[in-house]
This record gives sequence, structure tokens and C-alpha cells, in this order.
Amino acid sequence: MPTQTTNAAGPLATTAWPALSGRGLVKRYGTQYALAGVDIDISPGEAVAIVGPSGSGKTSLLHVLAGILPADDGEVYLAGRRIDSLSEARRSELRRTEFGFVFQSGRLVAELSAEENAALPLLLHGRSRSAALAEARQWLGRLGLAGKESRRPGELSGGEAQRVAIARALGHRPSVIFADEPTGALDTRTGRDTTDALLGAAAETGAAVVIVTHDRDLAESVPRRVAIRDGRVDTGVTAA
Ligand SMILES: Nc1ncnc2c1ncn2[C@@H]1O[C@H](COP(=O)(O)OP(=O)(O)OP(=O)(O)O)[C@@H](O)[C@H]1O
Ligand SMILES: [Mg+2]
Repeated sequence: MPTQTTNAAGPLATTAWPALSGRGLVKRYGTQYALAGVDIDISPGEAVAIVGPSGSGKTSLLHVLAGILPADDGEVYLAGRRIDSLSEARRSELRRTEFGFVFQSGRLVAELSAEENAALPLLLHGRSRSAALAEARQWLGRLGLAGKESRRPGELSGGEAQRVAIARALGHRPSVIFADEPTGALDTRTGRDTTDALLGAAAETGAAVVIVTHDRDLAESVPRRVAIRDGRVDTGVTAA
């Protein structure tokens, strides 16, 4: 992270910052270190795959970067602004406005249609119901779900449901999208298509993407990879 004090006041300064930075991130569970000092910078619009074996600290890193989990040490910056020291209320607000999330299995609301699910963050941002639904429908169409807008999650395939989750994560135009094993419940081919859909949609909005996966093949389709091992960045395997 460049020093905060030198040019933080300039109106153009924010464009120089990484979208998201972690500095010296440490997370402990009892005596066990889930993160043992991780530094990471993610540029605006950049897509990064976090790879590594089970238990290496990938989810912990994602949760600490997203402000879901407090770090025991280290700092997190969003566009140059420190966010880990904010109150839970402010971090929760940032998660709603600046971040989008895609989980392993959609976590869509079963009672709502695809378009209603996709519209939820827009409604939370104060958009009218008709405007939110119209925008959600546009995203669903771009993600190949035209004609399926009224279906409930139970009436969609796993890959289709993940596209709804992608539409929901993107609609409010967050600066960073976090995805933890978003294709973990899908077959290889559908997983690849879903990743492409996520990366393509994020590129349209300029969102950075942090995608956690233990599938190395899938990670190959992401422009940059960061390997985590035993809670540290494994520099031996990070060659992009
Ligand atoms: N709530 C918790 N309580 C205690 N230990 C935890 C907790 N969450 C994670 N851990 C431990 O921290 C380490 C890192 O876990 P983490 O979930 O970040 O790994 P991961 O790389 O996401 O693994 P996976 O690929 O299996 O999802 C592991 O050793 C795990 O057992
Ligand atoms: Mg995990």
C-alpha cells in the first residue's frame, strides 16, 4: 500500500489505489493460524483466483477482506481507505454498497422468482420495484436466462441458479465481487461456463473479482492466481 498521507487529499488520488488491499493479515482460531500474514493487492477491475488446498485459509482470507470476519492483525483498504477498523454497522453498509457476493450454492430466496432474487440488492439501494425488476431482467437476459425470469430457484438448474446469483451480486455495481467456490456444486463444463459468465459480467461493470476455488483447472481461466498454503501466499506457485 502506498503511504496514505502523501496524496490522499488529491481528487485523482483514489484512481491510483488498488481496489482492495490486505496488509499483514493474521487470523487465528485458538492457537491455529488460518492466516499467518497475508499481503495482497487487487487492482480495480482485476480478476484474481485464490487457490490452495483445503484448510489453507482461502475462505478466511475472503471473509477478512470482505469485512465479514475481523482479522487479529493487519489492515484492509478499500480504494485506499482503511475499512477493517470501521464499526460493524459501517462495514455492513460497505458490504451492501461496495461488495457483491456469490456463494457455492446460490443462497437464493426459494420463494422469490429469479428476477425478484436478482432485484433484491437494487431494492435495498432504494430503487423502485419496477425499476429494480427491469434492471434485474436485463442482467438475467445478458446472462442467458431470458424467458426464465419468473421461475423460482427450485425450477432452475444449478448453473442457471448461479447465474441468478451472479446477476444479484452485480446489479448494484459493486467495486469488488467475492465468490467462494461459486462452481463447487456444478459439473466441470457448467462450472467453466459459470465462471466465464461471472468474469464477463464483472468486466462489463468494471468490478474486481476475488474468486476462491480449489479447482486448479478452473483457476486457469482467471487472469491472475494467488496460491495460499498454510495461511500464507505461496510465492512459488503464483506465476500468472
Ligand atoms: N470457525 C472456525 N473455527 C476454528 N477453526 C477454523 C474455523 N474456520 C476455519 N478454521 C480453520 O482455519 C483454517 C483455514 O480454514 P479456511 O476455511 O479458511 O480454509 P479453506 O482454504 O477455505 O478450505 P476449503 O478449501 O476446505 O474451503 C483451517 O485449518 C480450518 O480448520
Ligand atoms: Mg473454504
